[in-house]
Amino acid sequence: MKVALGSDHGGFQLKNEVDKYLRSKGIEVLDCGTNSTDSVDYPLFGYTVGQALLSGRVDFGIVICGTGQGIAMTANKLPGIRAAVCTETYSARMSREHNNANILALGGRITGVGVALDIVDVFLNTDFAGGRHSKRLELMVAVERGEKI
Ligand code: RB5
Repeated sequence: MKVALGSDHGGFQLKNEVDKYLRSKGIEVLDCGTNSTDSVDYPLFGYTVGQALLSGRVDFGIVICGTGQGIAMTANKLPGIRAAVCTETYSARMSREHNNANILALGGRITGVGVALDIVDVFLNTDFAGGRHSKRLELMVAVERGEKI
């Protein structure tokens, strides 16, 4: 498995922890920055992770800003991206099972390292359930295409 990982300054410390954790599990990491606590603009990193995913270079993305919100909102502007902000493991599991989320968004100023790593684990190890949820994803794609549903 390969994961693209990106953050702004608000997520930089948690990004380092997630990076170490993924590598310790034998998961390949594509580091999309940022690489310091200097103030940067989160859309740049949400976009870069989203593009890495859409290009097929990685299986999943993880994006982190102060809250997880802005970086997720940005990634979700890209057609095909389904970024889920998660602060606990139930949302992480459901975002995969029901919504086939392909990017996990975390808040570096919200979620502590221990909980964040559990969330990462659940997100990466839960499969999409398919079935009735597939039709709902198709509706989401129709909205992305500008179709009326
Ligand atoms: C940066 O101060 C902060 O706005 C950013 O990390 C994030 O929380 C935005 O959603």
